[in-house]
Amino acid sequence: MKKMMNGKFKSKTSKYTRRDFLKKSTAAGLGMTLGGASLSSCRKELKTVPVPVKAAPMEKVRIGFVGVGLQGSNHLRILLRLKNVEIKAVGDIVEEKVQRAQKWVQEAGQPKPEGYFRSETDFERICDRDDIDLIMTATPWLWHVPVCVAAMKTGKHAATEVPAALTLDECWELVETSEKTNRHCVLLENCCYSNRALMTLNIVRKGLLGELINGSCGYLHDLREIKFNGKDEALWRTAHSIRRNGNLYPTHGLGPAAEAMNINRGDSFDYLVSTSCKSRGLKLYAAKKFGQNDPQATQKYALGDVNTSIIQTTNGCSITVIHDTNSPRPYSRVDMVQGTKGIIEGYPDRIHIEGRSRPHRWETFDKYMEEYQHPLWKKIGDLAKGAGHGGMDFLEDYRLIEALLKGKQPDIDVYDAAAWSVVSELSERSVAQKGKPMKFPDFTRGKWKTNKPIFVTDM
Ligand SMILES: NC(=O)c1ccc[n+]([C@@H]2O[C@H](COP(=O)([O-])OP(=O)(O)OC[C@H]3O[C@@H](n4cnc5c(N)ncnc54)[C@H](O)[C@@H]3O)[C@@H](O)[C@H]2O)c1
Repeated sequence: MKKMMNGKFKSKTSKYTRRDFLKKSTAAGLGMTLGGASLSSCRKELKTVPVPVKAAPMEKVRIGFVGVGLQGSNHLRILLRLKNVEIKAVGDIVEEKVQRAQKWVQEAGQPKPEGYFRSETDFERICDRDDIDLIMTATPWLWHVPVCVAAMKTGKHAATEVPAALTLDECWELVETSEKTNRHCVLLENCCYSNRALMTLNIVRKGLLGELINGSCGYLHDLREIKFNGKDEALWRTAHSIRRNGNLYPTHGLGPAAEAMNINRGDSFDYLVSTSCKSRGLKLYAAKKFGQNDPQATQKYALGDVNTSIIQTTNGCSITVIHDTNSPRPYSRVDMVQGTKGIIEGYPDRIHIEGRSRPHRWETFDKYMEEYQHPLWKKIGDLAKGAGHGGMDFLEDYRLIEALLKGKQPDIDVYDAAAWSVVSELSERSVAQKGKPMKFPDFTRGKWKTNKPIFVTDM
C-alpha cells in the first residue's frame, strides 16, 4: 500500500514507483534546467497524431469504478440514477468501502458488482475484464494516470477525477495512450457544469461580453480541517502540501474559463508565470489543534499559502489562477471572465454589460438567469437537484454517459485534461525559478487552430 510517511510516499508496488511524482517535483525544486524551450521539446518521440477518438454508439455503458471514497461515492450514487448504466465492478483499497458500494448498487436493483480490494493495483484486474466499457476513477491524485492508462490499454474508455495528472510527462502519457488506443480519456471537471459556468458560456457565445480578454479563477477553499482530520483526503492530500509548491489543484477554476475562452478550440495556453507567498497556515493550524511540539506542527510545509499563476494565451488573453487552501476564508472559485463589452464574476454572482447595466454598476444574475440560463440546466436542472456539489456532478456524469451512448465526443477530452492539469507542474517549476515564464506544450499539436468551440449541448 502507498502510505504517507514523513511526507514521503512509500510504495510496495515497484511497477509504479517510476511514476512517483516526488522525484520530479524535487528535481524542479533543485533547479534543473527547465526553461520554456526544454519544456516544449519534451516527449519529442511522440509517435501518435491527434485524431479525435472514434467510438461506436453503445446501448448501455458498463462501468468499473475505482476509488469509492467521498467523491467516488458521489459519482456512484449519480450513475445509479442514470438510464442504461450498469456497474460491473467496484474497487478500493478499503474493503468496507467496496462492500458499501456493492450494497448501493444492489439497492438500486442491479446485480452485485464484483469487488476488488486486494491491493492498490487491483484496478488492473478490473481493467482486464471483458465486460466493461468505461473505467471511472476517484482515487488519490497519484493513481489517476496509472488507472486511466491501464483502462485505455485494455480497450476501455477512462474518466478521471481532477487533476488528470501531476506531471507534464504524465499529461503526455494520457494523450499518447488515448491516441494509440482510440479510447476517450475524460476529465471529470464538475465545475464546468455549474449553473453559473454554463450561463456564462451561453452569454459569451451570444456575444454579450464582446471579445474575451481576461479571466480570473481558482480554488480558494479552507482545507485546513480536511488536511488534518486523519481520514479521507488527509491520508494523501496533506503530503502534497509538504512536498510541493505551486498550484496543486488548478482545474476547478480553469476549466470553465478555458471553455469560455475556447482553449484548444481556437486559442491555446501559451505560457504561465507563477509565484507563491510564504507558508504559514498549516503550521499555525496544526500547532493550535495538536500543540506546538506535535510533529504536524513542527513539520515543514512547502506549499505557499496562496499561489498565483498568470496564463497568457496565444490570442492575447490573460487568466489569473489562484490556489489558496491553507487560510481561514470563505469558499470561492472567483469565476470571472471579462470581455470588451462586459464582465461576469462569481462569489458573489454579478454581471455588468455595457449598454445594459447602469454605468459602473453591477447587476445580480436574476434576470440574466431567466434569459440566458444554459439549455442543459433548463433541460435537466430539476433532475440534478440534491446531487453532489449543487447538482453539477449530475450534469457532468449525465453528459459523459450521453456521449458514450451516442458515440459522440465528450465535452472535456484528453487534450483539455492535459492542458488544464499541466498547470500544476508548470507552476511548480515557475515558482522554483522565481516566476520564470513556462511554455505550455501544445498537446493538440496544432489542432487547436481548427477545432470547433464547444457549447456543451452541441453533440
Ligand atoms: N470534483 C470535485 O468536486 C471533487 C471533490 C472531492 C474530491 N475530488 C477528487 O476526487 C478524488 C478522490 O478524492 P476524495 O475526496 O474522494 O478522497 P477520498 O480519500 O475520500 O477517496 C479516495 C478513495 O480512493 C481509495 N484508494 C486509494 N488508493 C487507491 C487505489 N490504488 N486503488 C483503489 N482505491 C484507492 C481510498 O481508499 C479512498 O476510498 C481526488 O482526485 C480529488 O481531487 C473531486
